Amino acid sequence: MKKYMLPVMLVLGTILANAKGLVPGYLRCEYKVSPVTDVLHPRLSWELTSAENNQVQTAYQVLVASSVEKLTESSADLWNSGKTAGRSTAQIEYAGKPLASRKVCYWKVRSWDKNGAAGEWSKPSQWEMGLLGKSEWKGEWIGLDLDHLGKGKVYHLPPAPYLRKEFTIRNGMKKARLYVTALGLYEFSINGKKAGDAFLTPGWTDYDKRVYYQTYDVTTDLKAGKNALASQLSYGWYAGYLGYSLLVKNPVVRAFYGKVPVLKAQLEVEYADGKKETFVTDQSWKASQGALLESDLLNGETYDARLEQNGWNRVGFDDSRWKSPQVFADKAERKIQVYPGPPVKITQTLKVVSRKERGNGTYIFDMGQNFAGIVRLNVKGRAGDTIRLRFGEKLYPDGRLMTENLRMARATDTYILKGDPAGETWEPKFTFHGFQYVEVKGLSNAPTEETLTGLVIGSDTPKVGTFETDNAMVNQLYSNIDWTQRANYVDIPTDCPQRDERIGWTGDAQVYVKSAAFNRDVASFFTKWVVDLNDGQYENGAYPLYAPRPNLRKTDTFSPGWMEAGIICPYQIYRTYGDTRMIRDGWADMVQFMDFLDVRSKGGYLFKENAFADIDPKGGFGDWLSFGKKTPPDMLASFYYAYCADLMAEMAAAIGNAKDQQRFTETGRKVREAIRAHYVDPQGRFKCDDKAYGNGAGYVDGSLGFTGHTQTAYANAIYMNIIAPSDRGTAASYLTDLLKENGDKLATGFLGAKPLLPALSATGHSDLAYKLFLSKEFPSWGFEVENGSTSIWERWDSFTKEGGFKYNAAMNSFSHYAFGAVCEWMFGNAAGIIMTKPGFETFDIRPEIAPDGMGKDGISHLKASVRTINGTIVSEWNKTDGKLAMHVIVPVNTYARIHVPVSKDAKVLLNGQVLSGEVLSAADKDERHQVLEVGSGEYELIVTY
Ligand code: BGC
Repeated sequence: MKKYMLPVMLVLGTILANAKGLVPGYLRCEYKVSPVTDVLHPRLSWELTSAENNQVQTAYQVLVASSVEKLTESSADLWNSGKTAGRSTAQIEYAGKPLASRKVCYWKVRSWDKNGAAGEWSKPSQWEMGLLGKSEWKGEWIGLDLDHLGKGKVYHLPPAPYLRKEFTIRNGMKKARLYVTALGLYEFSINGKKAGDAFLTPGWTDYDKRVYYQTYDVTTDLKAGKNALASQLSYGWYAGYLGYSLLVKNPVVRAFYGKVPVLKAQLEVEYADGKKETFVTDQSWKASQGALLESDLLNGETYDARLEQNGWNRVGFDDSRWKSPQVFADKAERKIQVYPGPPVKITQTLKVVSRKERGNGTYIFDMGQNFAGIVRLNVKGRAGDTIRLRFGEKLYPDGRLMTENLRMARATDTYILKGDPAGETWEPKFTFHGFQYVEVKGLSNAPTEETLTGLVIGSDTPKVGTFETDNAMVNQLYSNIDWTQRANYVDIPTDCPQRDERIGWTGDAQVYVKSAAFNRDVASFFTKWVVDLNDGQYENGAYPLYAPRPNLRKTDTFSPGWMEAGIICPYQIYRTYGDTRMIRDGWADMVQFMDFLDVRSKGGYLFKENAFADIDPKGGFGDWLSFGKKTPPDMLASFYYAYCADLMAEMAAAIGNAKDQQRFTETGRKVREAIRAHYVDPQGRFKCDDKAYGNGAGYVDGSLGFTGHTQTAYANAIYMNIIAPSDRGTAASYLTDLLKENGDKLATGFLGAKPLLPALSATGHSDLAYKLFLSKEFPSWGFEVENGSTSIWERWDSFTKEGGFKYNAAMNSFSHYAFGAVCEWMFGNAAGIIMTKPGFETFDIRPEIAPDGMGKDGISHLKASVRTINGTIVSEWNKTDGKLAMHVIVPVNTYARIHVPVSKDAKVLLNGQVLSGEVLSAADKDERHQVLEVGSGEYELIVTY
């Protein structure tokens, strides 16, 4: 193949016009800009830009120093990497002097380009070391047991504890850091001002094993003299209600880790004279309760503003009547670590779109978008007026709020006014809801535009993807996918944000992780959750149904299709960001999972019918929510076995573990062989011994019967390379036949919907993939959009304009990202952005152009972009009569192969120049594509047919 290093026009006028060489920007440490970390050898990354095309880095140099002034080659006192040959701009491990707790490290980088010319140094950036180890923590766990005040038969919601302490600091304070954590949830303030802007801190973990802390720079919040530290606590994941335990009548429904929320905080002050002072949580603090009468993640908050203790969080408050807090013992094995993920935050505010009166002083507010978050209430009224806010995703046709689908999540906030004539503003602190509509009761005045404001919350994962077309349905679908991701990436990847679940279901997470990475930078988000997964791994090696895993139901254990998240998620993070540390850190756990599969398969490298009859439901969840006869869960388990073996072999290679690479390559081969011998007939058709399942009792939808010959089976077999390349065509024709028999409609569930379109595209059936993708008939993505969705639904027909709600009391979430996994095909096939080396160091651009003749229901223009760890890739195509225009941006330091779809007589212009006959020679062509291998730059390709 030829390399095209043609001069290309630089369409974008960039700020780089005058810069020389490679310009490093977006300096990050552990995936974050200027973070606090407790990683001893933190990883650095930067993004390169250049005024020139076809540029790559050939070497780099990193300087790390303890002050900005020392950031020179001669005085960098922590690390001077020296000129280091290589193209890598990410995952560069700090390899300087050992770093102690609290150390602030400044750094900068420069890069040499392909001609060996050194670029300018970047602007300095920094990171700071947190408290490295538990011994650094001097404070106690303090709290106040208010459990006896919880009332109510079903919902036992005690008030939230308040804690405070005044202390004095001298003149000459130079720097102050506040370290805070809690078992439960905390909000912390200094002199009445909230520390930081994170929400739901310190996050959910297996609290017996580890808890995270946050670090705040509070230098400017303190003053010489008296200061007040104050914190409110809530029950959160530690002590509050969790998941469906109430629904399934589990003997334990709340307080899974502990009953009393507790706080641990440490304020460290440094003076100009070098002296230091530390103030910590201990028995000298004061504790009480206040206006926050009830507080729970699933059930909401009740706040009686009349009970506010004015000035409780400021200096001078009389706390003589407050109690001493109780001190709680620590668990020796519990680690206290820096929160590795992106903080959960209010990421956007939403204005009310409409409000309707419903009689009896009840109003329904429409926020115009299904999201996860809270509302800020702004009201005026008499003391004691009680405002009740209920949250729902949908309205009944008669305009009432629909809340049945929340099941046992009360999701109600109550605010009792103090009667301030100037008006009162309130928002809950320790709960969130999944909703579009809010029912408000108890207003004494007619509401205005300002009465409610929507506050969107979620893990603050930077947006990296864009996707737009000239098809309104597709654009809405993409918006729905991103909103649903935002609503469910809240500290952990949840299934849904509204009902009594909101847990880290592993199946949902594994089918969606690749899609997620196209939309948002999820590197640090999964850095956190993969630890939860490994913490949740069972003794026998199985990964759990959800992580973290409190005991929500006695029978919950593991399930094929779910547990593999323990392999698939780290693999995807490795591929997307070139992250091998996650592989190394989790390797023993992942190997243990593979051992578990080997043991379960009893040396047969296969799961035959009924191999998982001992779990509940039998066989696990299988192709959850599919239509028609079920794909045998054991067959899918076998597919996943082979697939995980492949991923493990690839990851073993990435960390230089040849022995394990060989082991898992072998495993993959053996499992495939066994699958072919057992589940495939001589005609290449998938089969199973359906009689082995009897009447299917105990299996999910087992009464529908089982067959190997399903869309899900072939789609997965193609996607996971289960069958030999020579048999792919056969599998594809079975798949297309099945689709045809089904009126070109999908019948796939959670495990089948993701690979369906990619499998069709991979076997030359892109037109059929588009047909399914653009369909507006049930069941399809377009059907939801046609029925008014602003998010991805758990079921294709969760609501229909004609039929209303069918499943409400059962499972009917309107914010469930699993089927949003089509996003992977949208970016990977429709836009054709295909990674060929981890971190998109090299990639293909191979868009699949939508079929002609669909008019407004088709696509003639599509533009997608992804900001990868190596810079932003753009793939755009525009089809007009007889002409196809492609626009591609290849970031600096990457290589791409652009696949231009051509027919025999096509004429191709590259940046205005005709690609000569030589360029179009047969060697450069596959069947339908002209392939150009290019370096960084911007490429306009015009194909005339
Ligand atoms: C959740 C799913 C989950 C499933 C297990 C449901 O209730 O909402 O998304 O994966 O249970 O099959």
